[in-house]
Amino acid sequence: MIDVQSVLSRYAPDPEEKNNIERLVHNLESRIRSITARDGIDAEPVLVGSVAKHTNLKNADIDIFIVFSRKYRTTEMEKLGLKIGHEVLPEGVERYAEHPYVSGAIEGRKIDLVPCFRIDKGSGIVSSVDRTPLHTEYVLSHLDREGQDQVRLLKLFMKAIGVYGSEVRTRGFSGYVCELLIINKKNFQEVLRFFSESKGRIIIPSDSDLAKKYNAPFILQDPTDASRNAGAAVSMENLSRMKLESRLYLLEPSENFFTPKMEPAPALARNNGTALRIIRLPRPDLVDDIIFSQGERLRKIVVEHLQERGFHVMDSDLYVGETVDVLVEAEIGILPAFVRHYGPPVDSENSVDFVRKWGSRSFRGPYVHEDRVCADIHQEMRGIDESILSILERSNIGKNLQAVKPLAKVIDPLATGEAFKVIGKYYSRNIVS
Ligand code: UTP
Ligand code: MN
Repeated sequence: MIDVQSVLSRYAPDPEEKNNIERLVHNLESRIRSITARDGIDAEPVLVGSVAKHTNLKNADIDIFIVFSRKYRTTEMEKLGLKIGHEVLPEGVERYAEHPYVSGAIEGRKIDLVPCFRIDKGSGIVSSVDRTPLHTEYVLSHLDREGQDQVRLLKLFMKAIGVYGSEVRTRGFSGYVCELLIINKKNFQEVLRFFSESKGRIIIPSDSDLAKKYNAPFILQDPTDASRNAGAAVSMENLSRMKLESRLYLLEPSENFFTPKMEPAPALARNNGTALRIIRLPRPDLVDDIIFSQGERLRKIVVEHLQERGFHVMDSDLYVGETVDVLVEAEIGILPAFVRHYGPPVDSENSVDFVRKWGSRSFRGPYVHEDRVCADIHQEMRGIDESILSILERSNIGKNLQAVKPLAKVIDPLATGEAFKVIGKYYSRNIVS
């Protein structure tokens, strides 16, 4: 059996950290209040996120929303919100969710100051950021102390298997989804049992109308807004990971399932006879979510076109750090010198034309294959590197990546020793078990 208390004592905040957070929050809130009072702004700070819900792990960020009166127009609210944010966190940078916000750090802890509108009953259409304070209220009134710790266990498990976080980078389960799962299924064990026994897509509650509205693989109705799928970010792959790892855990529980994954060491990559390439672009100065969707698009374009050209792509991946790296692994890195070009059946009228046309121009043939006339044609471009460059040149890879395209580099990591960090990540995507 797992010693839950010892796991929690390692990864949940201890009394000292709790005191520190409380002091920081108090400090931030009173600074925001003194700015709004000084400038006559109708807004107030509200602590949200995992700290407010007591579901935070060690070193979690502090999320404070600056909740504005509805009398402001959106642009005005955003402008004032950023101004307050910058004054409270002078080193902070601007990020963008549904509204822009300021993200910074105090004493090494990440702080997000997010402006939003106050929601009153019957406020009409509101953004999901505005709804966040309602999540806090809902979770606080439905989760007891024991439940809070069960959420922490679930977050740890999801982090260890790599499915925690709703950003485009991860496409996994958000903190709020973990909380709703525990509220629904009572505890960590039952949540895992539920995933381990589920087949196909998951719909909670099972009779939810949302199943008709959305075709997401994971649907979890948001109790604060019945029309919203709180689990919309979860990809099919991450849902599958969660099902499989739940089964493995229940068969043989181990603390490995709660141990955060180490940043993978540069793998001892061997040349397995495949063609491994990394397409590296400088990172445009944009927020993660945007880069990730554009990088994904680039990955799909490259894979699709390589397949069309006759390369058998076995796997591919995307990594975004200081550079945008698309990795592809193909069975072979060089195509044959020719390809077979099928002509018409010999019985057809055109078969003679085909023979005349290709008679002098083919690499081999024309010849008869079964009932058809064929010719082998010279393959112009044979290498994977030149093929990738030509695909890049011919494709529109999206506004922002298009701009850095001339700087694209195709790297053969096994031959050059470059980009080993990327290779390390690629080779360490294994199941935890
Ligand atoms: P966070 O991403 O900081 O999540 O978003 P969290 O619950 O605080 O969890 P950790 O411990 O930091 O990882 C802050 C709040 O924004 C809302 C939730 O209410 C969350 O508590 N949110 C965030 C969503 O509703 N959906 C999302 O995808 C992300
Ligand atoms: Mn948070």
